[in-house]
This record gives sequence, C-alpha cells and structure tokens, in this order.
Amino acid sequence: MDTVGRRKFLGLCLGGVATGALAAIIYPLFRYLAPRPVDGSADKVVIQLKDVPDGEAKFFEFAGASAVLVNKRGGGLVALSAVCTHLGCIVQWEKDKQDFLCPCHGGHYTPDGAVVSGPPPKPLTKLPFTVANGAITIG
Ligand code: FES
Repeated sequence: MDTVGRRKFLGLCLGGVATGALAAIIYPLFRYLAPRPVDGSADKVVIQLKDVPDGEAKFFEFAGASAVLVNKRGGGLVALSAVCTHLGCIVQWEKDKQDFLCPCHGGHYTPDGAVVSGPPPKPLTKLPFTVANGAITIG
C-alpha cells in the first residue's frame, strides 16, 4: 500500500515536470509563429511640418509597418509606405539624390514612390494625409 502511494506520487511529480517542460518549449514557439499585434494607436500619425525640412524624409510607424513622409525639394509632401514592393525590405531615403533606394536588391523609387529601376514590380503605396496649422496628419 505504501509502495503504491509512492509510485503514484512519483508519477504525479514526473507528469508535472513533463508538462512544465512541454509548456516551456511550446510557448516560445507559439510566440514566434503568432502574428504580431497591430498597434491600433498608429492608425493616425501627426508630424509637425517643421520636423521635415525641404528635401528631407521622416520615417515613422504606421498601422504596424514602416512609413515615410517626404518634403520634396522644391515643394510638395508625399506620404508612402516604406515597404519595398519587391520582397518587403524597408527603403532608405537618399537625400543627395532625392530618391529611395531599397538596400536588399537595389530597387530605386522616385520621391513620389514610382519605380525608377530594379526589381520592384509596383510603386510604393501612397498614404492619405491632411495638412492643417503646420501639422501633417497621416491616415
Ligand atoms: S526587396 Fe526591395 S528590391 Fe528587392
């Protein structure tokens, strides 16, 4: 009777350890594979016009992805997704050339997001924005 009680106790302990070890393996795997939550607070982004001088670009997070606001040299604002339409790398602003370069495969885009050269199949996605009182609201 005493032996059966010890066996049962050891069985319960081993079962608990095995369950804990399994959870320690599965939980990180689940976190890695699960889609990242979209930050709902970034549905609208406000950027002050003074923070984007003429010819400059400002990168920001918009709806869970990288985006960019360009104050084109000589005038004109453009808000774009900064995600390359080829394989999804984040484009870089080349201030001296006034264009976007994708560092992954050398795609080039104009400040308006049109494809100049390289493998991107489509222009960068334009984002809607409004300007009021020196503030640009994207989204
Ligand atoms: S991912 Fe941008 S050119 Fe390939």
